[in-house]
Amino acid sequence: MTEAVSFPQDRTCPYHPPTSYRPLREAGPLAQVTFYDGRSVWAVTGHAEARELLADQRLSSDRRNPAFPIPVARFASVQRTKTPLIGVDDPEHNTQRRMLIPSFTLKRIAAMRPEIQRIVDDLIDGMLEQGPPAELVSAFALPVPSMVICSLLGVPYSDHEFFEEQSRRALRSETAEESEDARVQLEDYLGELIAQKEKNPGEGLLDELIEDRLRAGSLKHDELVGLALILLVAGHETTANMISLGTFALLEHPEQLAKLRADENLMPAAVEELLRFLSIADGMLRVATEDIEIGGRIIRADDGVVFPTSVINRDDSAYASPDELDFSRSARHHVAFGYGIHQCLGQNLARAEMEIALRSLFTRIPDLRLAVPAAEIPFKPGDTLQGMIELPLSW
Ligand code: HEM
Repeated sequence: MTEAVSFPQDRTCPYHPPTSYRPLREAGPLAQVTFYDGRSVWAVTGHAEARELLADQRLSSDRRNPAFPIPVARFASVQRTKTPLIGVDDPEHNTQRRMLIPSFTLKRIAAMRPEIQRIVDDLIDGMLEQGPPAELVSAFALPVPSMVICSLLGVPYSDHEFFEEQSRRALRSETAEESEDARVQLEDYLGELIAQKEKNPGEGLLDELIEDRLRAGSLKHDELVGLALILLVAGHETTANMISLGTFALLEHPEQLAKLRADENLMPAAVEELLRFLSIADGMLRVATEDIEIGGRIIRADDGVVFPTSVINRDDSAYASPDELDFSRSARHHVAFGYGIHQCLGQNLARAEMEIALRSLFTRIPDLRLAVPAAEIPFKPGDTLQGMIELPLSW
């Protein structure tokens, strides 16, 4: 056993796992890490073991369990409140997920592609009109998924400054109080929006859930607010990071970008490889409800478990030369969207958004480049979703 590494830590390069996680990779497939409060938690680093454990129902996602591991002080209170879907186990989880699945099927998302393309084209028109330089996060990477999720849910995009700011505070505030306050503000906002929609129905998933579930009594108002909150936050913060960090990684790997330009059909494989390589959701959490034997170790009931996806997705027994970005590999089976019952509900949507956004950006602005040296561009700390804080570009 190696000495426990503290977790999480900041990345040294925006798209590589922190160099300080190297001992974890070497100790794998399971190693101990230490959280901010001194607690020892299992870090799963082996790809096969991660998939096995993420599919194991003896690991719980229920944040209300007092033994649930809290990686960052500011999440202490938030994680002990009931979080629907992502924070509950089956059978409750299954009931909630089944309500939402029809809105995220490949077919439903394929039907949204023309609208996503329109949103992407309008934003690129705006960037071109304004002329270089542009800040990609605010001009493109955040508005694309934000507009798309608003349209899907039936949330007015005119409120985007409010909900984007509250999502940022919820995920990246300094203190637990601020994070909690942001969550309450989002809940109040969505609660009011849903109450208005009950009186004046509009179009979107929230309206459908009001009509089919709330009125029928199979969904409570509070539960719908909780689901709306998860979908709104997960729907824009995640993909925004993939678009900004994906653009940065492509500009830093011109040979891969050239490969992509030469063969448009590579785009789906490139998106999969970017998901693997960037692993922006770098630390899924679980708590064991029973003893589990795996990889020669025993995870005891009440032990905390963390899944650092940046390390798992670079396991060299699953991928050859895992530290290289390589669009000719098949990166399928990565765990960037998780695995098992909680595997990302929005993955078809996220893939469509990434494909359309990246293809259009590099086709319509062929000589896109960083406006300042790469080392000067700020990126997010290790205790939140990974991505660029700003991305100044020129052409
Ligand atoms: C590239 C962008 C995205 C990434 C990397 C990502 C990543 C993830 C991961 C790792 C999980 C599993 C969490 C766990 O097991 O604890 C997850 C779950 C989830 N994601 Fe995403 N996500 C992305 C985009 C989206 C989008 C666009 C939506 C749209 C609504 C979304 C909605 C959800 C929901 C609702 C869950 C919870 C599913 C469940 O518990 O059954 N995600 N996502």
